[in-house]
Amino acid sequence: MATLIPVGVAGLGRYVPEKKLTNRDLEQIVDTSDEWIVQRTGIRERRIAGADQVTSTLALAAAKQALADANLDPMDLDLVICATVTGDQPFPATACRLGYDLGAKKAGGFDVAAACSGFVFASQVAAAMIQSGQHRNILVVGAEILSRILDYTDRNTCVLFGDGAGAAVYRPLSEAKRGEFLGGSICMEGGAEGVLAQPGGGSRHPASNSSVEQRLHFMKMGGTKVFRFAVRVFAELVNNVLEKYGRDQIGVIIPHQVNQRIIESAMEQVGLPMDLVFSNIERYGNTSAASVPIALREAFEAGRLQPGKLVVMPAFGAGMAWGHLLLRW
Ligand code: COA
Repeated sequence: MATLIPVGVAGLGRYVPEKKLTNRDLEQIVDTSDEWIVQRTGIRERRIAGADQVTSTLALAAAKQALADANLDPMDLDLVICATVTGDQPFPATACRLGYDLGAKKAGGFDVAAACSGFVFASQVAAAMIQSGQHRNILVVGAEILSRILDYTDRNTCVLFGDGAGAAVYRPLSEAKRGEFLGGSICMEGGAEGVLAQPGGGSRHPASNSSVEQRLHFMKMGGTKVFRFAVRVFAELVNNVLEKYGRDQIGVIIPHQVNQRIIESAMEQVGLPMDLVFSNIERYGNTSAASVPIALREAFEAGRLQPGKLVVMPAFGAGMAWGHLLLRW
């Protein structure tokens, strides 16, 4: 077998829309309270995209920051992968618009639809393509405008999510010089469409007057099931890294920013202190595929990525699909 080319992270970027939707704002929209939301989720506010923005707009801003950080020109890119479940439209892929707007004229592109695990999965695809020698410079963006598929009459879901984008540029480690890709995992338990989904708009429930009347184009979720699932797989993913590398190697855990209570419960289960975790959930809520790369960039800015130490990124969500991304910074 040919030798694999080691892969690293050359650049990181993030973008969140300016408009904030606070818990107090939500109190005016649905029957909820700041106290309930903070206590059950840790979320205080989330960002909402402007009427003139689409998902590729957010992705573009994050991508530009990641490319500048990597010191690369869009023309250097071989591939653009966009992880999203709220793309500009069902097709064509949002990655195609993003590549066009960036001026990445030599790059191919496609989307990855894996909900909250999207960035973690897409990063593993990118790393494998660089390892094999097929591509050298790959942009991976996680971008979502979840506010467009949230039902603001459903307090079970609308308080939890927000909009944003995060990006990473992967290159051979010899050029990236940091963030060595050590591997990850991609797992699923299918048949769980009833637990967390946007039911309408696909072949199961094509758009029709009836699908609109039944509000099938909005996100639906069974919160308690998702909670239990998330704690279980989060703990399992971190435990696997612990067993293989040991506690001392772990520099920071940057989980999918789902709910502070889920993060705390999982950390308690694995017996690790909360100060190992980087969390920004109180400012952005759950931004699905954008959550890990936004937090990764912010952890970098905060000096939380320690040279030589592991960066563990567990993610989990609709599907049910879950997995992790592991870097050595
Ligand atoms: N404000 C006030 N009350 C609310 C509410 C809100 N925003 N949302 C739900 N409630 C109510 C429920 O209607 C329920 O009332 P009832 O007992 O009269 O029926 C009550 O609060 C308790 O609901 P419960 O589901 O037991 O609360 P919980 O402790 O499980 O917390 C979630 C609810 C949604 C916060 C929690 O289940 C969760 O975070 N799940 C994971 C969801 C998620 O992150 N999904 C994305 C994964 S990628």
